Amino acid sequence: MNPWNNDFPILNQSMNNKRLVYLDNAATVQRPLPVLRAVDEFYRTQNANPHRGLYALSIEATERYEDARHTVAEFIGAEKDCEVIFTRNASESLNLVAYSYGLTFLKEGDEIVLPVSEHHSNLVPWQMVAKAKGAKLVYLYPDEDGRLTDAEIEAKITAKTKVVALAHVSNVLGSVYPVAKIAAKAHSVGAVVVLDCAQSIPHMAVDVKKLGADFAVFSGHKMMAPMGIGVLYGREEILNAMPPFLRGGEMIEYVHEQDATFAPLPQKFEAGTQNVGGAVGLEAAVRYLQGVGYEKIQRTERELLNYALDGLEKIPHVTVYAGTGNRVDRCGVISFNVDGVHPHDVASILDMDGIAIRAGHHCAQPLMEYLQVNATCRASLYFYNTKEDVDLFLESLKKVRGWLGLGA
Ligand code: ALA
Repeated sequence: MNPWNNDFPILNQSMNNKRLVYLDNAATVQRPLPVLRAVDEFYRTQNANPHRGLYALSIEATERYEDARHTVAEFIGAEKDCEVIFTRNASESLNLVAYSYGLTFLKEGDEIVLPVSEHHSNLVPWQMVAKAKGAKLVYLYPDEDGRLTDAEIEAKITAKTKVVALAHVSNVLGSVYPVAKIAAKAHSVGAVVVLDCAQSIPHMAVDVKKLGADFAVFSGHKMMAPMGIGVLYGREEILNAMPPFLRGGEMIEYVHEQDATFAPLPQKFEAGTQNVGGAVGLEAAVRYLQGVGYEKIQRTERELLNYALDGLEKIPHVTVYAGTGNRVDRCGVISFNVDGVHPHDVASILDMDGIAIRAGHHCAQPLMEYLQVNATCRASLYFYNTKEDVDLFLESLKKVRGWLGLGA
């Protein structure tokens, strides 16, 4: 048995009476027992509203919440804890940046540069900013291996650029973009860098300073924490200059009938009762990730990625997007199509074999347009997957065309 199954009980389940082969890790990963236990323990023994009560239990809940913030700040290399804002997820973090920073500081004629592969979360909020402020979206187009070339970066990031918004890892192509290089170019023209780490932090170290991020976001649920907790990192100086995003309880200093002043960071951006259980779960997930270690995670995933790409190359009628050649600047995310078969049908046929993959536009429709497809299938790996998982996936995939009466 896969030894990870002891920590991830859901992997022992069957799906459609077949062993579950979970290959939808880019959508959400599974949670290990230590994370589940930490959340359970918090609600059993420490639950109270943080930052409000003057009694011991509330103080304890506040401490758990702030400890989690400290753990996350250290984990991503933030200088100060107050640079870590808890949100619901990466999407909310990106909306916070777009509404609060974008609407305040961008003006007519400014340019927002982003890869065409961006998830809608890091694209649609910027469309809103561009429309409201008369700014323009300028796209970086990946090459056939899914890479952003130096020439593309040089040509698109110019004196007009005020924001460069990009994913560290594409959720469709798996490309690992050269973030530090792009950030250096962005800073040389005075632009800020908004980095979406939702698909990278589960798999590789994210150091916001080394990467040159002015803002960085991620979701807990893609890195083994509960759903509903996410992070916005922002440089203190920039966060201080921004107005609040959501207004209400907990984020104020003093409220008068006609006006209010706001709490200092991080509370200024954390209106309402916070998700302490989620933050506790996120802290446990960080500890778990550290326990496994990125080195082991990357080694395992690289082996599985190579194995899967080698296998896919041998199956006729399968197209892998961004090809199978780039195995270096790439994570374990594989988008593909089977000739003559709708991706939803591929996913449904694999589902009958107990194999969970995603099919659709993956919240990246401009990329679908660029690739000239409506949708793709996507298999995405995590360190708890095995070669046997990949074998079962490949065997099932081989049957798809035959199942639909198409030639092998
Ligand atoms: N953003 C997630 C994905 O790519 C949901 O599947």
